[in-house]
Amino acid sequence: MTAALPAIAFDRIGRDRLPALLRTMPKAELHIHIEGSLEPELIFKLAQRNGVALSYPSVEALRAAYAFTDLQSFLDIYYAGASVLLKEQDFFDMAWAYLEKAAAENVVHTEIFFDPQTHTARGVPMQTVILGLHHACQRAHQELGISAKLILCFLRHLSEEDALATLEAALPWRSYFIGVGLDSSERGHPPEKFARVFARAAELGLHRVAHAGEEGPPPYVAGALDVLKVERIDHGVRSVEDPALMDRLAAERIPLTVCPLSNLKLCGVKDLADHQLPQLLSHGLVAMLNSDDPAYFGGYLNANYLACFEAMPSLGANEAYVLARNSFEASFVSADQRAGWSARLNEAFVAAAA
Ligand code: ADE
Ligand code: ZN
Repeated sequence: MTAALPAIAFDRIGRDRLPALLRTMPKAELHIHIEGSLEPELIFKLAQRNGVALSYPSVEALRAAYAFTDLQSFLDIYYAGASVLLKEQDFFDMAWAYLEKAAAENVVHTEIFFDPQTHTARGVPMQTVILGLHHACQRAHQELGISAKLILCFLRHLSEEDALATLEAALPWRSYFIGVGLDSSERGHPPEKFARVFARAAELGLHRVAHAGEEGPPPYVAGALDVLKVERIDHGVRSVEDPALMDRLAAERIPLTVCPLSNLKLCGVKDLADHQLPQLLSHGLVAMLNSDDPAYFGGYLNANYLACFEAMPSLGANEAYVLARNSFEASFVSADQRAGWSARLNEAFVAAAA
């Protein structure tokens, strides 16, 4: 249960004060692919450390290639970037770099996606991947005070058999991840393809999320709910095309982990001002903002918040509060933890409105 809304509206907080409030408010990030946090500088450093050849001569040349036309054009370069990750220390360094940035942006809790198949297919052992990421999360909790959990994602362009084998291979480290997700190329790979592996994940007591309605049509969102029994939808922005689905998402309080800069960079929208976020919020959906692949899409979580509030005139302090509150409501944490963070959020907004 989320802490009750304080009995005041926050409209009195002026627009000029929003950027500072967006930066400082406590919030959770629930949709971040850790391989998508790999900055070009770290890609080059790891390539050199591991003797991996890259197809780009410099950091600048690599960054200049980040001009995407759709999801697939991004995924091709994203998987190539991940090829520098070989050792446990590499996974640790990548996650640590993200966690330091997140903590500095007042992210108090993060649920991090990782794609084991991207690494095991190159001969990297599952243990190497999971332990490197887990140790970074553990140390970040101790030293940065940020809560960080892992979600294992299946690549939907691969077979369900491969996903099942991946889940079984990860079970020795079952206590190091809290759930499973579904990512990679959406079109042509409907959620129904992964019914058995999500049923197995449910049996194991794992949380379940899936990308749906990013590029795929609204029935993929309904399929993820009905067949995969997911608890959250990642992206879900194309739900606005189906009024009945919008009503269902609102009635069932299904969270949508929205990633606006990602949608912009992958040409889901031409301009942030055209983004579906205001529609999702005005329909009462449990949406919040996330960075998806921040190293590739031009910014971490606060950049997403700042860009949206600048581009969308209907967003003010009330919406900022609701988005941050939704981020806690949608988190896979205990009710006590959620209530603690929500109380801190309330305090921040009440103080700003005083
Ligand atoms: N993997 C990393 N980023 C992704 C995205 N935006 N959609 C699907 N799969 C992804
Ligand atoms: Zn994603």
